Amino acid sequence: LARGAAEPDLVGRHVVVSAGGTREPLDPVRFLGNRSSGKQGYALARTAAARGARVTLIAANTSLPDPAGVDVVPVGTAVQLREAVLGAAADADAVVMAAAVADFRPAVYAAGKIKKKDDRDPEPVALVRNPDILAEISGSRARPGQVIVGFAAETDEVLANGRAKLKRKGCDLLVVNEVGERRTFGSEENEAVVLGADGSETPVPHGPKEALADTVWDLVAARLS
Ligand code: CTP
Ligand code: CA
Repeated sequence: LARGAAEPDLVGRHVVVSAGGTREPLDPVRFLGNRSSGKQGYALARTAAARGARVTLIAANTSLPDPAGVDVVPVGTAVQLREAVLGAAADADAVVMAAAVADFRPAVYAAGKIKKKDDRDPEPVALVRNPDILAEISGSRARPGQVIVGFAAETDEVLANGRAKLKRKGCDLLVVNEVGERRTFGSEENEAVVLGADGSETPVPHGPKEALADTVWDLVAARLS
């Protein structure tokens, strides 16, 4: 759908978008993290605001300017992201989980900086699972009719993995993109297929992250009305 001035089809709606990537601390100076820049989530927040929505953007470790007219909630870890998403989702019409959530976190947080010891080999880092926020909010919707969207970056069997993941998470839409060394992370552009729980498949050609964002809101708006 080509857009000049945005259609105000999200007026009166509250949407929640998560963006960026969580960081799971090992000690006061180190963390396990990922390469998500937050650009796709910010594009989703900007386009939703342009379409008239009230937008809560839950930003995990991003360094991007706050979009105008958007409520930005900064978070660090997956556990903090979960708290913020559950809180904001309570009265939301739609939730889009564009953030890259660390699947695991270090089992132990060292209050003091971890030091290397003489010539000894390092200890392995023990990990525990983080909560699956998307599965949780999809499994018990805060509101009937709330539309929930996930994102998945896949490297192989992209569509088959996407279908299986959509089912497993229980969300309404899953934006699947293929990633490789040079694709998607930190880039200004994206290419994806949006899978629907209703069996729909919407390809989004390579283009700006705003175009993908607008396609997501088209699909969300259709499910809200
Ligand atoms: N997600 C989440 N909580 C997690 C992990 C992922 O809410 N602990 C969300 C992401 O924000 C994204 C979607 O789930 O919208 C898919 O993330 P992905 O990492 O692809 O899913 P996983 O179930 O973790 O699968 P994988 O083993 O492929 O990493
Ligand atoms: Ca994961």
